[in-house]
Amino acid sequence: MSKQEEKPDVGTTGHSWDGIEELNNPLPRWWVWLFYLTIVWGIWYTIAYPAWPGIKDATAGYLGYSTRGEVAADIKAVEDANAALTAELASVDLATLADNAELNQFAVNAGGAVFRANCSQCHGSGAAGAKGYPNLLDDEWLWGGRIDEIAYTVSHGIRNEQSFDARGFGGEMPAFDGVLADEEIDAVVAHVLALAGEDHDAALAETGATLFLDNCAACHGDNGEGSLAATRSYEDPEDLIANGEMTGAPALNNKVWLFGGDAASIRESIVGGRAGVMPAWNEDFRPAGGLTQAEVNAVAAYVHQLGGGQ
Ligand code: HEC
Ligand code: HEC
Repeated sequence: MSKQEEKPDVGTTGHSWDGIEELNNPLPRWWVWLFYLTIVWGIWYTIAYPAWPGIKDATAGYLGYSTRGEVAADIKAVEDANAALTAELASVDLATLADNAELNQFAVNAGGAVFRANCSQCHGSGAAGAKGYPNLLDDEWLWGGRIDEIAYTVSHGIRNEQSFDARGFGGEMPAFDGVLADEEIDAVVAHVLALAGEDHDAALAETGATLFLDNCAACHGDNGEGSLAATRSYEDPEDLIANGEMTGAPALNNKVWLFGGDAASIRESIVGGRAGVMPAWNEDFRPAGGLTQAEVNAVAAYVHQLGGGQ
């Protein structure tokens, strides 16, 4: 018998195949200890971390760890880092925001997020608007395109019952059904088409011109320039911020339409009237889901730089 064939004194497992037997060698010490260690570690882990499923929840673990908590901590860290900028944004004089590049960039970024979450369902994700919902990309404004004017519009909203200082409070496009006769409405439609530089019946438009001055010019301006343009000529610029003088009557002499510029849509606007409503966003008027002043300023900065800001 050679040395290799000597059987150490460990016995066999009893397994034998074709005369070959399996020795019952002990496992190496280091391996066994490692094995016990993994068991101990496994038990410790299920006590320390959320592990055992219950009926509604898993056990919480004494370390109190949760992935949700970790996300909350990350968010808080970002908020803490931005706290100074947010505080500054809440009280900034918007007219000077553009001079502070860092704050302005912060506002535009934050405002984009506010817009996507709160405004895009009405104004469109690209802010291009839709029928009845103004395009915020162009330089056509019902209520003013200066950054402070935009912030006011967002804070108070338009023709809502939340803020007494809402824009257009008590002012809307009246329905002329029954006020003007059918032929008179046809004539006014022709005049509005003429104001906008569209094809029209010249004789009808001529009749419509007088009717327009009598019935429409008070809000839309003598030449259909709109209530904003009409109040722009006021001496005191504060009048533009104050809600009082503006009815929000759109300009009719440019080819930009809120409710459509074909003869049928114009007729519909005149016959039935129009009264677009936008909710107030400032948390003062909207306890649930309102925007803080910093968020209002941020979204105003965002909208202002979209292309049409004045
Ligand atoms: C529920 C729909 C709705 C939501 C949401 C909404 N708006 Fe409006 N918004 C309107 C309507 C309707 C008008 C036009 C009202 C009118 O006819 O004068 C308007 C008008 C405006 C105007 C005035 C445009 C001009 O020409 O002067 C601004 C600025 C504006 N919205 C910004 C915002 C911002 C910013 C948000 C998000 C914080 C927002 N809107 C959310 C419906 C909405
Ligand atoms: C009391 C003020 C007032 C008077 C008077 C008035 N309008 Fe208006 N008009 C408005 C307002 C405000 C709007 C916009 C309503 C909105 O934004 O929802 C409007 C909207 C319109 C629109 C839709 C414009 C668009 O961009 O789609 C047309 C067209 C129009 N008016 C024509 C007339 C004509 C024609 C008359 C006279 C027969 C007239 N309006 C009289 C206030 C007035």
